[in-house]
Amino acid sequence: MRQLMEKTMSSATDTASDTYHYEHSGITIRKLSEHVGVEIEGVDLASPLQAHVIRDIKDAWERHGVAVFRNQELPPVAHRDFSAHFGPLVGHVLSRFNMSECPEVTLISNVVNDKGEKIGADRAGMLWHSDMSFVKRPSMGSLLYCVECPPVGADTQFASMYAAYEALDSEDQKHLATLRAIHDYPWHYRTYLKHRTQLTPEEEAKTPPVAHPVVRTHSSTGQQALYVGEGLTRTIEGMEESEGRKLVIELSDFATQPQFVYAHKWRPGDLVFWDNRSTMHRATEFDDRYRRLMRRTTILGDEPFYRAA
Ligand SMILES: [Fe+2]
Repeated sequence: MRQLMEKTMSSATDTASDTYHYEHSGITIRKLSEHVGVEIEGVDLASPLQAHVIRDIKDAWERHGVAVFRNQELPPVAHRDFSAHFGPLVGHVLSRFNMSECPEVTLISNVVNDKGEKIGADRAGMLWHSDMSFVKRPSMGSLLYCVECPPVGADTQFASMYAAYEALDSEDQKHLATLRAIHDYPWHYRTYLKHRTQLTPEEEAKTPPVAHPVVRTHSSTGQQALYVGEGLTRTIEGMEESEGRKLVIELSDFATQPQFVYAHKWRPGDLVFWDNRSTMHRATEFDDRYRRLMRRTTILGDEPFYRAA
């Protein structure tokens, strides 16, 4: 492990500055904020990519939590194929918005078809969350591609849960590491997605509430991250419901202070790849006169765990 870390570090030069470079693959990394987010330049994601390029992208993504690629031409199949380099893909737990010709790709959209139905999940993820945290093995990473977006609004904001954890005092770090939180999708749907057709009893049965550690150890970097977001985390296991909810909101608010956040302003052709183990995110509001059409893939992750450093 130690050798691997040293080897990885030596392949990326000048990591302390805002821009650095991986020599072998030729990709350039430009930091987008203090704690989270980089733009990766010098790669065409629709072309076949060699193993060392994928390795460098993965390295930069895990270090910085969010990787932005601009000006990409990425049809659904190419989006799926690029995503699959990082692990097995899962469609959304609700299959209604998965593309029929490429079911690993989910549509997020306010566009309406000729039957008057939305073609994708609309107003998805407006509260802080980590994707699919409500299942036993949540998403490790998500890749969102912009086809069309409003000229203002509909940003995606990302918070570094590493930075949030590090900003806690050591007593709080120790205490929080003993807790588990309840992540609950049916509750989320009933509470925050009233505008949508509600889950069927069969869909609810597929997503019972699950408990995950409040402090999560990253499976690659070994760093600790808070793993609580107000959108999908309902309460804390073993606490009275409202008291637990209060703590969830407090932690979510703490973790998403402006100094821990990068806000991405979308342009058509952007692909943003985020690490759900170390970041939370949310979408911002926008005017429905404008069309929004995004495509998303999701990489299956491991069961979250906490391991003391
Ligand atoms: Fe999300």
